[in-house]
Amino acid sequence: MINYSGKYRKGKPIGLPYQGSKKKISRQIVEIIKENFGTNKRVYDVFGGGGAMSCELLLQGYDVVYNELKTDVYEMFKKSLELTEDEIKTFILSRDEFFEIRAKKQKSPIDNLKLLINSFGNDRDSYLYSVDKSEPKYKLAIEILEKEKDWRNYKQTDVYKAHEGRLINIERLQQLKQLQQIERLVQLSRVKEMEVGKSVNRLEHLEMHNKDYRAFSHVEGAILYLDPPYENTSGYVTVKSGVISKEKKERARKILKGKPKGTKLRDGTKVYSLNDNGRVYVRETSNGFNSKLFYDWAYEMSKKNIVLISSYAISDPRFKCVWTFEKAGSTLAGGMDLSKKERLFMVCK
Ligand SMILES: C[S@@+](CC[C@H](N)C(=O)[O-])C[C@H]1O[C@@H](n2cnc3c(N)ncnc32)[C@H](O)[C@@H]1O
Repeated sequence: MINYSGKYRKGKPIGLPYQGSKKKISRQIVEIIKENFGTNKRVYDVFGGGGAMSCELLLQGYDVVYNELKTDVYEMFKKSLELTEDEIKTFILSRDEFFEIRAKKQKSPIDNLKLLINSFGNDRDSYLYSVDKSEPKYKLAIEILEKEKDWRNYKQTDVYKAHEGRLINIERLQQLKQLQQIERLVQLSRVKEMEVGKSVNRLEHLEMHNKDYRAFSHVEGAILYLDPPYENTSGYVTVKSGVISKEKKERARKILKGKPKGTKLRDGTKVYSLNDNGRVYVRETSNGFNSKLFYDWAYEMSKKNIVLISSYAISDPRFKCVWTFEKAGSTLAGGMDLSKKERLFMVCK
């Protein structure tokens, strides 16, 4: 049903760092769309999130409709397309600045972007570095941005090399994640001026909405790319490693160790428990998304549109897997969890 040559655009994938982002496979998915359905139809990225698919589609010359229900996420993505490199370079936060912004009741899109790129696992909640590493890494990143033109290749800069020698006893500096995050955001902000073929402002081909997916029920003759929150039948999903900071897990472990076996700790929608070998296990309570209603909607929409759904698995037999991405498994506990492969689904015809 689907043919794919295996080709895709070389160069880095683009999009906000976002939980559930399709960055790893966005270039392949867009190539699949091109090879099977051409480039003439409008594509609706109805569950747009961090915008990885919308950006890739724009780069490949499509007319794109991005939509996202969560207003803060929608606004972050919208803002990130308008920024300049000089603005983005001011987004690096020290530990204190991070917690000051986190405490604000009303956060601007820029506040949220700053929290996003300076947080561990991009959760906008815990600072990127632990207390002892925060100060030297932050200061070094700032110095490199100020003094070095070639800050993207920061490991080759004189400032980095000088500090690397001095700090070696405290901790090897390794990666300056803040600089990497800044670089990715700069790339995203450049989508507007990137050209494929003829020179155009890409953003003229982008329409943006902050709505529930059902607002698009009238659409006909388009391609709908649907990447909804994961279907979750048990009411709980295991939280991927890297999403919760080490500090948080350690805090939970200390509390749980003093409690009777089997005790569960609740923090918002997350539930912490200890498994038999003393490791902290984190699950997320149901995300509240009604998958059944969504499948009914997607099925109806496929009568007048080309509908593609991204998921690991779909329990509804009206949909079948048309493509499996063999390499893009999720990394659980350091290793690849091969049962969790990204897949594309379409209505059985
Ligand atoms: C798996 S994520 C999409 C990730 C995105 N493809 C990317 O690459 O960043 C699912 C998104 O759907 C959004 N969402 C949840 N319920 C929605 C609804 N009813 N209508 C539209 N979007 C919704 C979530 O806020 C989340 O951002």
